Amino acid sequence: MAAVEGAAIRLRPLDPVEYAKLFAWYNDPEVVAPYDRFSVDTMDSFVAGVQSAADDPASLAPRFVIERREAPGAIGFVGYYRAHPVLEYVDVWYVIGDRGARGKGFGREAVALLVDHLYATTSVVRVGATCDVDNEPSYRLLEGLGFRREGTLRSALYHHARWHDVYVYGVTRPEWTARRRPR
Ligand SMILES: CC(C)(COP(=O)(O)OP(=O)(O)OC[C@H]1O[C@@H](n2cnc3c(N)ncnc32)[C@H](O)[C@@H]1OP(=O)(O)O)[C@@H](O)C(=O)NCCC(=O)NCCS
Repeated sequence: MAAVEGAAIRLRPLDPVEYAKLFAWYNDPEVVAPYDRFSVDTMDSFVAGVQSAADDPASLAPRFVIERREAPGAIGFVGYYRAHPVLEYVDVWYVIGDRGARGKGFGREAVALLVDHLYATTSVVRVGATCDVDNEPSYRLLEGLGFRREGTLRSALYHHARWHDVYVYGVTRPEWTARRRPR
C-alpha cells in the first residue's frame, strides 16, 4: 500500500520497527479510548491483526500511521472497516497518539486523506464514522470535513462504567467529490 500525501502530513503503512511504539498507544486507554470502549490486547495479537488487515475488510487494526511531512515518525494512526454485515459502507476511525500533536489540524487532515484514499481506491459510496456524543474533538473534526450527523444511537456504547449515546456521521461519494473539487 503506497503512502497518501497531504499538505502537512502523510498516511503511510506501518513499519514493523515501530510496532512497539504503536502498540503502547493502542494499549493505553487514556490515548485511544477517552470516549470509547477499551479492551486489553497483547503485542502478538496486535501485530497479527496489523499483518492480516489487508485481507480482512472488517479488521479494526490500524491501516496507516499518520506522519508529519516535516518530522518523520508516527504521531498517530487511522483505520477503516466494513461496519455492517449487509449494508455496504465503511467506517473510519482515527487517533492522534502523540498528545502534544493534538489540536493542530493533523487529525482532520488525516481523515480527509483517508476518505480521499477510500473513494479513490474502492467503489464504496458512503464513508461513515461514529463517536460518543461527548467526544467533541471527534465530531468537530468530522463536521469540518462535511460529514453529516445522521442520527444518534442511544445507549449503544459502554465505557467508563455507564452506557453512552453515539452520533452517526456519514459523507457520500457525491458530497465528498463536490466538496473536494478545486474552486
Ligand atoms: C479526535 C482526535 C483524532 C482529533 O485530532 P486533532 O488533530 O486533535 O484534531 P484537529 O486539530 O484536526 O481538530 C479537529 C476539530 O476538533 C476541535 N478540537 C480539537 N481538540 C479539541 C478539544 N480538546 N476540545 C474541543 N474541541 C477540540 C478543533 O477545534 C477542530 O474543530 P473546529 O475546526 O471546529 O475548531 C484526537 O483528539 C484524538 O486522538 N482523540 C483520542 C482518540 C479519539 O477519540 N478518536 C476518535 C474516536 S471516534
